[in-house]
Amino acid sequence: MKTHTLLMPLDMHLHLRDGVMLENIAPLTAYSFSGALIMPNLVPPVDTKEAVLAYRERVMAAVPNDYFEPYMTLFYKNYDKKFLTDVAEEITAIKLYPAGITTNSEGGVSSFDIEEMRPTLEAMSELGIPLCVHGETDGFVMDREAEFMSIYELLAQNFPDLKIVMEHITTKAAVEMLDKYPNLYATITVHHLLLTLDDVIGGMMMPHHFCKPIAKRPEDLDALLDLALNAHPKVMFGSDSAPHPKYKKEACGCAAGVFTAPIALQLLCEIFEQFDKLDNLQTFVSDNAQSIYGICPEFKEVTLEKRPFVVPETYSNVVPLYAGETINWAIESVD
Ligand code: NCD
Ligand code: ZN
Repeated sequence: MKTHTLLMPLDMHLHLRDGVMLENIAPLTAYSFSGALIMPNLVPPVDTKEAVLAYRERVMAAVPNDYFEPYMTLFYKNYDKKFLTDVAEEITAIKLYPAGITTNSEGGVSSFDIEEMRPTLEAMSELGIPLCVHGETDGFVMDREAEFMSIYELLAQNFPDLKIVMEHITTKAAVEMLDKYPNLYATITVHHLLLTLDDVIGGMMMPHHFCKPIAKRPEDLDALLDLALNAHPKVMFGSDSAPHPKYKKEACGCAAGVFTAPIALQLLCEIFEQFDKLDNLQTFVSDNAQSIYGICPEFKEVTLEKRPFVVPETYSNVVPLYAGETINWAIESVD
């Protein structure tokens, strides 16, 4: 039986929610990942030091053991330096959402006025706090990410000492932007390495394939695969696993988000093996994030095995990607 072992897998973009959802969902990631960057788009958003600390406590209470590190984030606002200095120790990054662009982002940034943002972004540069960005405009849905490239350029040029992470990139345009500025990095999800728009709306409409940013064209998928499979040093795995209850997905007005947390490593093995690049998966799923964020995760050794695995129909009323379908890798053991 073919196996593959990964050390300290990291998910550098994860939605865990709160309350019962958090309790049900967090253990799934804590089982197979050493740590994850926890998104702050709760209602209300995580935007104070107290909220960060309290949310961290709730995440830790929801996971069954201590072998999981929640790397906390703060919801971007134009914070002052005093506030940032006080909170810096408690967070790994700050997450910026354009207002209203995705789930629970209403309190996000409504104008990218660089001068208005300068004091915050300069303080973040000095304190070494990376900025993670949901890079979409409010333009036509297929063009939103590409249109955002000029904002990434503005940020990268104006704040050369700020680490900027282009989150969940989906386009060739973003891939091409990555090497243009030394301070730009990116995360890629597993579903964006598998799906194009055809898989969302090309046949029957597939609510469990619907997320922001929406999956794009085959040439975009190829560009993303090229980056991930070769474990480009500025790219990290970030699942953007975004659980919504089944009734909110299978609805008139489907919530955006693809739920992949419990099958992410299995699918990554399948993709990397298919392209004969399994040797690069460790770098993509852990090593790059360790160097980019300067983090030292809890030891965890995850062994996957190549054998058929039927994806459960639901996990606590959340429908995963490929529910009920057979995938080709399974988790064999976690130590
Ligand atoms: C995310 C969510 O549900 O919180 N949804 C999504 O489609 N990815 C928010 C986000 O990361 O955009
Ligand atoms: Zn997200």
